[in-house]
Amino acid sequence: MDLGQVFTKGIVADYMVSLFTLNKDAIVLDPCFGEGAFLSSLKKLKKYSAVGYEIDSDLFSKTKKNYPQYTLKNADFLQASSRKKYDGIIMNPPYVRHEKINELAELGVCKDVLNSNEIFKGLPSTANLYMYFIIKAVSLLKRNGEMIVIFPGSWLQAKNGDGFSSALHKDCSVERQIHISGDVFEASALVDVLILKLRKDGKNRVAEPEFIKLNNGVLETYENKNEAIEINFNEPFSSISKVRRGLTTGCNGMFINPSFSRREGHTRPIISSPKQIAGFSTKGAVSDELLVIDPNKLKDTDVTSFIANWEKRILADGKPETLVKKIKDQKEWYRLNLFDCHGIIFSYFVRNDMKFIYNDTDNVIRDNFYVLYPAIDKWVCFALLNNLYTFYQLECVGKKYGAGLLKIQRYDIENLHFPNIKTFSDADIDELKKLGKKLAKTSDRKIIDDITHVLSHYSDVSYEKISAEYNDIVKNRLENV
Ligand SMILES: C[S@@+](CC[C@H](N)C(=O)[O-])C[C@H]1O[C@@H](n2cnc3c(N)ncnc32)[C@H](O)[C@@H]1O
Repeated sequence: MDLGQVFTKGIVADYMVSLFTLNKDAIVLDPCFGEGAFLSSLKKLKKYSAVGYEIDSDLFSKTKKNYPQYTLKNADFLQASSRKKYDGIIMNPPYVRHEKINELAELGVCKDVLNSNEIFKGLPSTANLYMYFIIKAVSLLKRNGEMIVIFPGSWLQAKNGDGFSSALHKDCSVERQIHISGDVFEASALVDVLILKLRKDGKNRVAEPEFIKLNNGVLETYENKNEAIEINFNEPFSSISKVRRGLTTGCNGMFINPSFSRREGHTRPIISSPKQIAGFSTKGAVSDELLVIDPNKLKDTDVTSFIANWEKRILADGKPETLVKKIKDQKEWYRLNLFDCHGIIFSYFVRNDMKFIYNDTDNVIRDNFYVLYPAIDKWVCFALLNNLYTFYQLECVGKKYGAGLLKIQRYDIENLHFPNIKTFSDADIDELKKLGKKLAKTSDRKIIDDITHVLSHYSDVSYEKISAEYNDIVKNRLENV
């Protein structure tokens, strides 16, 4: 069961508590205190009294012992009474995806119960558990009360984030908006994190962003020089391509590099990892084997016993759930729904160099990649993807993890913007085709600059500017580890 247990580091908790400007006798609520990071900071401050909730009984018992002076409850905060209101609320809400919420049913948390509560009516059905927490917390705040909350900055950019962020701003002003980088959570590598101080004043003012960094155990403020520049491209991604996630097997242990003899005819090559591709094309890439069972060869005893063993194992383990369900519902549960993977592929995670890769081999592509299907000339499309204007947009929106890792969601790709190629000269279109083709063939990264040069004829942002901004943002990501 996933309760979203990611704990706040002590130094960050102390900082957050210091943002309160409440009266000495104020009552502060922590709706999900976990190991008590905020309770510990409040105790040191010796100013306010505190009330807390924690649904996990083990964690509750362990933490409660250290805070006899506070009113701590082992209960579901989302069903807590809404009569009592608080002067201050401080929290790090649990991040639990909407598909996983019903798995908490044994603790009394499920979507039906949540959605029967009037206050959650404005939330989309795909809302993450943290959104319910924030809405409920705002509802428990006294007029003019203060709420300090920490969460990954990318949450606000989530596709279903719009309704959430308007709900957040409806009753509250954002008094402080603090972007904090470094490892701010225990045992989590997420580095792009936001602390908001909200005030329930019925206005909706939003303060200018501030930036702090956790560096070797010290919090330092800094000026953010990486304020995103505006790229005046207006054509949506849908005008040049479609995108989907690569193949999900549901059980890689069974489907990738299956271990039975006489596999011929029962496998196809699959590219599983960006490490298997050297350049900008999948030609010559190393591949794994994907189990693709040929129903005409099922008499082959090796494959039938392999399937039977996995069936037994999956049913005994009760997971992966999708396969358990398939085994119960379908005769040919072991057959994957393959689809065309010819096109352009892009890794879900970016480390150092960003790249869109041309795939015209018969390799299947795994879900570590997105597969893009050009709707315009494939080489023009390839060039429109492989240049600094596009890379810069992705750098700005990707979710940053430790070790310089950048995670790109499908909607990040769908939200890219491009210049209108109908306004391009024939010579430039020919040049883009030539450059795209050459990039796939030679994998020479200098060609990315050449493409960027061509596109700069159609942008207000010069080649020099985009190149400098892009280098800065990448440097910042790789240094900020
Ligand atoms: C992200 S952790 C934060 C814990 C702590 N406040 C901190 O910052 O270190 C979220 C906590 O919420 C608890 N939790 C999850 N669902 C809950 C619920 N419905 N009611 C109360 N607590 C819940 C989890 O067990 C977890 O300890």
